[in-house]
Amino acid sequence: MVKIRVITAFPDMIRSYLSESMFKKATEKKLVDFSVWNLRDFTRDKHRQIDDSPYGGGAGMVLKPEPFFRAHDKILEKSDDQKPPVILPTPQGRKLSHDLSVELTKFDQINFFCGHYKGIDERVRQNLVTQEISIGDYVLTGGELPTLVIIDSLIRHIPDVLNNYESAQSDSFTDHLLEGPIYTKPRDYRGHKVPDVLLSGHHQKIKNWRKEQRIKRTKERRKELLDNKSENNLVEDKNG
Ligand code: 6GU
Repeated sequence: MVKIRVITAFPDMIRSYLSESMFKKATEKKLVDFSVWNLRDFTRDKHRQIDDSPYGGGAGMVLKPEPFFRAHDKILEKSDDQKPPVILPTPQGRKLSHDLSVELTKFDQINFFCGHYKGIDERVRQNLVTQEISIGDYVLTGGELPTLVIIDSLIRHIPDVLNNYESAQSDSFTDHLLEGPIYTKPRDYRGHKVPDVLLSGHHQKIKNWRKEQRIKRTKERRKELLDNKSENNLVEDKNG
């Protein structure tokens, strides 16, 4: 069972998501154990202040080191690991990919520190954070959505979290092809028809058609996934 902790100033944002759907099922099956800690619970002043203005001046507020260090002390108390994995979601991190999300499944605990406002005191990064991860080249308001994205992409790789059908679907980025079209009832909706091959009952023909569709879609939309897979990896590693 993997232990996932999220340390955040907005615990309800995280909790509402973790209590539904796949996250809920993974918890019920005891495959993951989530805990969400409120950053303010690790302050010691009466205003429970988690941020302050930056030294040297400038706009915006910076998250103070103390609440993160005190939360980290509590993580150490609960763990034998002297250097527990602490992920800081940030646009400056290594870019999230299928391969990185698979890599993260090797840990038996993962801690997420959610940043907000202008950023987080550099001493937290340098002394506590073990890995910084970005979910893409755009800026979000805080680390909560990226944390949920990272958790979603990683727990899907834990055996038994998904049912078999979904888990076959998640192979999309394993074989570097996008998913193709899928249909359900009715056969004819307002004159828009389901392709005949899917109704043919010929399993081999259906299989071939599906593969062709995936290749066609990948060529049209994401040609780089087909060309030089190894070269893409190199570029990604350099950026990461
Ligand atoms: Cl991980 N955090 C924030 N705040 N913005 C982002 C991001 C992370 N990844 C892309 N944009």
